[in-house]
Amino acid sequence: MRPRAVAVLASGHGSNLEALVHAQARAPYRVRLVIADRECRALAWARARGLDARLVPPGPHADATQLCAMRDAGVGAVALAGYLRRLSPAFLAGFAGPVLNIHPSLLPSFPGLHAHRQAIAHGVKVTGVTIHFVDEGLDSGPILLQEAVAVREGETPDELLERLHAVEHRLYPQALTIVVEGRYATSGRQVSILPPREE
Ligand code: GAR
Repeated sequence: MRPRAVAVLASGHGSNLEALVHAQARAPYRVRLVIADRECRALAWARARGLDARLVPPGPHADATQLCAMRDAGVGAVALAGYLRRLSPAFLAGFAGPVLNIHPSLLPSFPGLHAHRQAIAHGVKVTGVTIHFVDEGLDSGPILLQEAVAVREGETPDELLERLHAVEHRLYPQALTIVVEGRYATSGRQVSILPPREE
């Protein structure tokens, strides 16, 4: 199968962008477009790597600009990687392909910012990583993959986040692979993962 073009939307450090790009040589996708809503490390890294990297600040034409860049790049799937803005109904209606997001908790627990801090403050013993399809809500769409991570006694938020990131960087390329191969079926909120097709 010819690798599918994907776009990554980011706002921050970009470690998940890096993980997706590093894994792509052995995966059926290629990151052909990076869009950020602000100047950030993710955008700088993408530029330095020679990727098509665009700054699209919020504004009345932001959706149309993003959709146009995605169409030009032939993008068939989108991965949000620390993108700190909700996608508008216009964006979601205007893009026909799947849109994934990654979140550092076992959703629906601890949506929003600093999920790892929320988990420690709440005193949970187990948290984790969720990869889900994006809808118009906040970290609320149907769940594709989850992996649990035990919270260690006395662990700081930064220590927990580092361990969550290690899981994220392994899981996100797997999730994007499943999605670009079309190996999933949805029924309401239930998402089933299908076995690889026989060649
Ligand atoms: C990641 O931990 C991701 O799960 C989180 O932002 C971080 C971005 O890190 N996303 C959310 O909290 C979404 N609600 P990165 O810029 O290094 O990839």
